[in-house]
Amino acid sequence: MHMQAVILAAGKGTRMKSEKPKVLHELCGKSMLSYVIDNVRQAKVEEIAVIVGYKADEVKASLVGDVCAFVQHEQLGTGHAVMQAASFIDDNAYVVVLCGDAPLVNARVIEEIFECAYAGKKDAVVLSTILDNPYGYGRIIRDENGRIKKIVEQKDADSAQQAVKEINSGVYCFLGSALKKALKGLTPENAAKEYYLTDSIEQLLAGGYDVDVLIEQDSDIIKAVNDKKQLAQLEKMMRQMINSKWLAQGVTMIDPENTYISYDAVVAPDVLLYPNVVIEGRSIIKKGTVITTSSMIRNSVIGEHCTINSSVITDSVVGNHAKIGPFAHLRPKSILGEHVKIGNFVEVKASTMGDNSKSSHLTYIGDAKVGENVNLGCGVVFVNYDGKAKNLTVVEDDCFVGCNVNLIAPVTVKKGAYIAAGSTITEDVDEYSLAIARSRQTNKENWVLRPSETSEGDKR
Ligand code: UD1
Ligand code: CA
Repeated sequence: MHMQAVILAAGKGTRMKSEKPKVLHELCGKSMLSYVIDNVRQAKVEEIAVIVGYKADEVKASLVGDVCAFVQHEQLGTGHAVMQAASFIDDNAYVVVLCGDAPLVNARVIEEIFECAYAGKKDAVVLSTILDNPYGYGRIIRDENGRIKKIVEQKDADSAQQAVKEINSGVYCFLGSALKKALKGLTPENAAKEYYLTDSIEQLLAGGYDVDVLIEQDSDIIKAVNDKKQLAQLEKMMRQMINSKWLAQGVTMIDPENTYISYDAVVAPDVLLYPNVVIEGRSIIKKGTVITTSSMIRNSVIGEHCTINSSVITDSVVGNHAKIGPFAHLRPKSILGEHVKIGNFVEVKASTMGDNSKSSHLTYIGDAKVGENVNLGCGVVFVNYDGKAKNLTVVEDDCFVGCNVNLIAPVTVKKGAYIAAGSTITEDVDEYSLAIARSRQTNKENWVLRPSETSEGDKR
């Protein structure tokens, strides 16, 4: 069987009330359109056409792999959209047509509709399902023998038709030649003044073609997104599917209903996730790591047996056995070794830190290379910015940097050196030396009047 797919993705999605094209809205970090394309590919369809229109360049730029894009300059309806791909459609192919706003229609369903059309030698098969609340969908209208007669859109349906609970999923499989024939007969004579793809069913039946309906039992996966409420509903379904997958693989979630893992993230067995943990992008969380409430991990790799406490980590790498937080912020390009400790209110940016190094409290580490076994005291600031450029600070292995030290970059603190608390370091520090860079303390004796001399606390 020669299989082709046409995916409709030209609409603006007016009901989304968004600047962003509807099909680029995401469920668990992946766009609806890329779900649809991946589902089609998983069903082993190699020839894929996507109809783009509203913000066509933006939608085209999102396409990966071998996909042909056709532009529908004016959005005159779903039938008109398919017409744009007429040159792509092969007469002898079975062509599945899908909507870019129905991301949960999976490969199993796509394979079934191809099989139904091919094995039954049908000219067209419509995928339907039964919904308790069919509002907004096209209804499948059957004759007295139960055979499909036509599809009627919500806007065009009379009250008897509106009562029908069997709806059009928007997924079809056509024989290429029949589809092209039916498209030629479409007219915009309906409430929306659009060329409806759904009218092709009545067209084909009138021409004596063999049309059938395949009913999908799992009505949830048929659902499409037309507004933000439906987007949230499908996001929830996708989140549950993702969480079920990781639970089955041995991840522990205290509250799976409130655990947010992106489609592309990977979480290892024996990871423990507290409620309200958010793992975004292509993050990888390795085994035995514990992530507590309100942590946000984005496109980062977290090693084995780490503890991440209520912290934000973006585009970074954390080594095994590291302890982060509470309330730490690892900004992009932070690369931490094993057994590193980054404590409360520490911010790290574009810096590396070697094994066993620690910064336990209230520190800013920016544009730095910190070696192994380094201790950074409370309140150390890597002064990386001179008002024009960002400069590098190097702190070599085994150094001890006291509290409230400013390291004015570019500067290097060599191996094993100590820096006295409160120092502002502007020059390199030699190996195993002690740097003190602060003014000496002066004690002014009897500077404060004693209580016997005047009223309490007065100064001279
Ligand atoms: C459509 C079906 C309806 C079905 C429902 C399933 C028609 C007329 N109606 O309704 O029977 O129950 O899907 O979800 O087909 N699009 C274009 N170009 C256009 C118009 C739409 O590419 O000119 C694309 C949209 O981007 C979207 C898809 O087609 O991805 C469906 O369009 P939409 O407006 O959402 O159709 P529905 O009203 O939901
Ligand atoms: Ca729709």
